[in-house]
Amino acid sequence: MSAVRARPARLEEAALLAEMANDLNEHVGIYGRPFTAERVRADGFGERAAFTPLVAELDGAVAGYAFFTLGYNTDIAARAMWLHDIFVKPSARGRGVGHALMAAVAAETVRLGGGSLEWAVHSANAGALEFYKRLGAVGGEARIMGVAGPRLRALAGL
Ligand SMILES: CC(C)(COP(=O)(O)OP(=O)(O)OC[C@H]1O[C@@H](n2cnc3c(N)ncnc32)[C@H](O)[C@@H]1OP(=O)(O)O)[C@@H](O)C(=O)NCCC(=O)NCCS
Repeated sequence: MSAVRARPARLEEAALLAEMANDLNEHVGIYGRPFTAERVRADGFGERAAFTPLVAELDGAVAGYAFFTLGYNTDIAARAMWLHDIFVKPSARGRGVGHALMAAVAAETVRLGGGSLEWAVHSANAGALEFYKRLGAVGGEARIMGVAGPRLRALAGL
């Protein structure tokens, strides 16, 4: 039987995390591979970390990862975990790795006093939608919008 274990990622795994994060971007149609080991080290580790990285091992080898950040949900007036990314290497899918990652993020959410765990999923990502449904997740109709790059600077009046 395969052994699956989720644990905090290590700094020396930054290059592997960057590779998987870029693979996830490509899976959802975002190209250019913006992640680098340096970016993961700067944004995922240390005092100024913007997200927490977890990995899951399958039979001792890293098979997937999750990035998440504690935020706030004003609908329930409580701290809420935001899951940025979850990804399992194609060769390791369907063996409980994704479930182990989600369970670990949920446990961390409860440990930190969070009242919910939330994420965004593209409506075209049928496999992920099915995966989330099996975990008991429910979805609303809200759309995520944003401004970035020149649009962000323009809105800021710069
Ligand atoms: C979605 C993903 C994380 C699932 O990881 P996984 O390790 O394959 O999932 P698990 O083996 O833990 O599956 C957990 C449950 O979901 C089901 N499931 C997982 N993927 C599924 C799929 N594509 N279609 C139907 N059911 C699926 C499993 O059958 C299992 O069900 P069970 O509990 O009834 O046995 C993985 O397929 C992945 O990395 N996909 C590409 C990246 C992606 O889309 N990430 C999400 C972005 S929002």
